[in-house]
Amino acid sequence: MASASIPASPSPWTTPHPSPPPTYSPPLSFPPPEDLVPTVTRLHDIYSSVDLPHQTSRWHALVARFKALYDRPMTFVARSPGRVNLIGEHIDYSWFPVLPMATVHDVLVAVCVLPQNDPVADDRIILSNVSSSKYPTRVFNTRDFQDPFFEISTTGTDVDWSAYFLAGLKGALMFSKLCAAETSPLPTMRILVDGDIPPCAGLSASSAFVCSSLLAVLAATTSSMIEKSFLVNSSVISERVLGVNSGGMDQAASVFGVRDHALLVDFRPLVSAKPVRVLDTVPPLCFVLANSLVVAANRAETGPDTYNVRVVETVLAAEILARKYNVGRLEIRDGFGGTLRGFYDRVCEQEGWTMGDRESEERAVREVVRRVQETFDRDQYSLDEVAEKLGQKTEDMVRKYMTRFPIRAKYLNLRDRSIHVIEESFRVKCFSSLLASSTVHLRTLSGSESRPYFDALGALMNASQASCANFFECSCPEVDELTQIARRYGAAGSRMTGTGWGGCTVSLVRADKVADVINGLKKEYYAVRYPGLSASQLEEAVFAIRPGNGTALAKIEDV
Ligand code: GLA
Repeated sequence: MASASIPASPSPWTTPHPSPPPTYSPPLSFPPPEDLVPTVTRLHDIYSSVDLPHQTSRWHALVARFKALYDRPMTFVARSPGRVNLIGEHIDYSWFPVLPMATVHDVLVAVCVLPQNDPVADDRIILSNVSSSKYPTRVFNTRDFQDPFFEISTTGTDVDWSAYFLAGLKGALMFSKLCAAETSPLPTMRILVDGDIPPCAGLSASSAFVCSSLLAVLAATTSSMIEKSFLVNSSVISERVLGVNSGGMDQAASVFGVRDHALLVDFRPLVSAKPVRVLDTVPPLCFVLANSLVVAANRAETGPDTYNVRVVETVLAAEILARKYNVGRLEIRDGFGGTLRGFYDRVCEQEGWTMGDRESEERAVREVVRRVQETFDRDQYSLDEVAEKLGQKTEDMVRKYMTRFPIRAKYLNLRDRSIHVIEESFRVKCFSSLLASSTVHLRTLSGSESRPYFDALGALMNASQASCANFFECSCPEVDELTQIARRYGAAGSRMTGTGWGGCTVSLVRADKVADVINGLKKEYYAVRYPGLSASQLEEAVFAIRPGNGTALAKIEDV
């Protein structure tokens, strides 16, 4: 499969596809192994030695449950992790680079493919989930699909868990040869899912599930190599059926994840991820995750008031800025509209600025922010006012930008959203170059000397949090409070991570302060707001995390 940027296509399942969908074709030349989704044979290839004991018993249980349920051994497991974003929030859909990492927590999709001549082969896909023991309040009914062209219902609040699998399945059908021959039956499949990414916490459990489902169906239906960039792009598009115009960070973090590394994910010209090692300091640099237990914004329910509105605000801001400053037509992202990165790059081109060093970047950021402020002199504009700035009729603007993904908004804030995006992109550059220089610090710094280094990283995270709260308005009081407590107990920096409006915070903490920060959060947040939590619920709500490995196809010989 050739690498490609995320194709510009309408949502494939709400609008008839104008031409035959792309077919799956193996790459013409062999891509380097690091560009392919790996097939692993040992759990050690996925998890570090710290996580192996727990993961080994989890996988043992999965194997046993699979056998008991289907009376067949599983053929393979498609595994995709969740993600924690370190910095660069809500800028991926403006095409600016972001810096997430994959989690050790993941979604496992265990599959048995039954050959046509198997006495039990019946062309059905049976899908079960073992997660109900972990999440007793959630419903994971077994589903039995006989028709491959299933309907996915995403209406209202009632999205069945299987919709994420179906999104992956449909994506695989769309991108594989199967869609060229509609009559080809899917093979008979028995599937068991086990996820341990906390749901509704903004850690991208749904993207991990879609990625691993898509990979599972591809692995069941083709023997070709699967390129990581292909899996990222097709997962992003597959997930759109669930009603969100997401930017691609979650899928990229999940697929490209590398143990002990953050990932500098870029989207232009192609989606790519550069691993940046994070643990080489003295004392080691750690991250603490704390779940506010406030349900993060989600697609079907709150997306139309939150996430989807932000996407539209940033696109409209880019289009209006491009028009006002005559920078030419912006490259269109995903058939939708221009991006703030497009505008930023055009300004730099026009000014003849060669970028690369901190001073030039800072000058460009200042100039683009100045133009944003000049263009939008207040924080709220009615739809009519925005349309006027865009030079379009309101109904045309609404049809073009506000119908493909549902939106509920009477006023838009183009100024503050744009300032956040532009300044946050600069913080990502500063943060990633500091991280990349951590090996220098390992050699030269120890103990108290490393403090300014931690503080510099932490200050960028704190500034990101302030901008998310004040300019992008995607935090919430509970998340703000968690970040303040973490800082009081010694975190160098703390911020929301992921979609926001709830969900988790990530704090940067020196190893010798991790226990203080975790205990402080337990005492001042959880004991006050959630006094009834059991010890194990607390352990699941606040813990130290390390970057984990990315998506893999597992054919484990001796679990
Ligand atoms: C969600 C989306 C991502 C990204 C984040 C915010 O997780 O899926 O693409 O936009 O929100 O940074």
